[in-house]
Amino acid sequence: MKILMATSETVPFSKSGGLADVVGALSATLTEMGNEVRIFMPMYSFIEKEGWHKSLSFLIPMLGTNERAEIYEKEVNGVVYVGLSHPYFSKRLGIYGDTSFQPYPDNCPRFLCFAKATALYLAATDWKVDIVHCHDWTTGLIPYYLNYFKVEAKTVFTIHNLAYQGVFPPFDAIISSSRIPKSALRGPKAHENINMMAAGLLDCDFITTVSPTYMEEIRESGMGCGLDDILKDRKDDSKGIINGIDYNEWNPETDKDLISNYSVSDLSGKEECKKELLEEFKIKGYDDKPLFAIISRLADQKGFDELLLEGEPCALERILQNHDSAVVLIGTGDSKYVTKLSLLMSKYNNLSVKITFSTPLSHKTEAGADFFLMPSRFEPCGLNQLYSMKYGTLPIVNMTGGLKDTVVDLENKEGTGFVLSPLNPENIVKAVERAKEFYKDKESLTEARKRAMKVDSSWKKSAEEYMEVYTSLL
Ligand code: GLC
Repeated sequence: MKILMATSETVPFSKSGGLADVVGALSATLTEMGNEVRIFMPMYSFIEKEGWHKSLSFLIPMLGTNERAEIYEKEVNGVVYVGLSHPYFSKRLGIYGDTSFQPYPDNCPRFLCFAKATALYLAATDWKVDIVHCHDWTTGLIPYYLNYFKVEAKTVFTIHNLAYQGVFPPFDAIISSSRIPKSALRGPKAHENINMMAAGLLDCDFITTVSPTYMEEIRESGMGCGLDDILKDRKDDSKGIINGIDYNEWNPETDKDLISNYSVSDLSGKEECKKELLEEFKIKGYDDKPLFAIISRLADQKGFDELLLEGEPCALERILQNHDSAVVLIGTGDSKYVTKLSLLMSKYNNLSVKITFSTPLSHKTEAGADFFLMPSRFEPCGLNQLYSMKYGTLPIVNMTGGLKDTVVDLENKEGTGFVLSPLNPENIVKAVERAKEFYKDKESLTEARKRAMKVDSSWKKSAEEYMEVYTSLL
């Protein structure tokens, strides 16, 4: 089968979040299964040009003028990456904005241009695609333009996060194209805005999202961010498929970022990793106490309001007050959370925070911590809880979306973590206290770690589910 993934980001070339990991790893697995997979992506300025070759060039009509697009290709492990070179991307420092929290003012024409280019590329190449698999709002207009430019293909649209919809005043879109699909004029305040996510959901052949529970939540539980009706209408053409993780990247047995590797049969290296992590974060005297880690965007979605802002003292302060555990945190984001974290850090020597985004440090943290705290308000899938389990670091999660689908509470014999509900400061503190208690029973702790490490989150099963969807469409 010939499959084109369309995405604004993908490893190993561009990444702002889990979407990039998912597109890269899913494509690699589908290739191993015998499919021909190409990934259509923007060529941002920060992508090294080495090893890419120019394969095509064509014009994109954008409101009365024609703009030149160049296509570059590069093969990595059998997957062909197809890069769209256009000043909208090649002259930008970031993916959605120069910093992650200030979007470019012209994101509407940028991703409209990307959608047209995807269709025009497929019309121009002699590679005859079967499935075009679109990811998130930046690709929402692709099904419409495939139809418009007469490319025959079935389309799948995957929601990674329904909270980001690509909503713009229609003026933006009209100055960059006279052809806005009617489907884009749906969704909240439709009469005032165009909504790229809505267009994708209405025009594609099949909708997926990244966990069964999130599918249920956005369709039935009032979490549809204004697009519930569309999702209800399309119930029969939709499915939640849980993400996998890439074990070539995330495996404590082979991880090159760890000071000491470890496995289910020999966990001793994990202690070394904990020591190194505490040193790295300059926390002294806590080697024998439970260590909690957070790696996250500092955003409301991730539950930081409940952790840092609600109540006096807030949940995190209550966790730190007894000095019977330590907390390390890596993340970037909302300044109100950064401010509160610095305040707490100046007060407590058992909290250490790094306002940064670092892949090697994330690996070290997953390995060195005892517990991983992830009290997300909503979570389409979540990858960190899966990484944590693989590293024997028991996750503490809110019972929502993919977190609910992947973590089993330790009340059960097969437990792999702690599940709290509903999300509030009280329940966060309670769950953390449960973990602190659990830590004292070293035998049960080791058993639970091993169980978590044995959970199979490889991509194979999920890739097979996508294959079933593709096949049913053809
Ligand atoms: C988004 C979601 C996250 C999911 C990821 C990959 O970042 O917020 O839950 O794991 O996409 O699908």
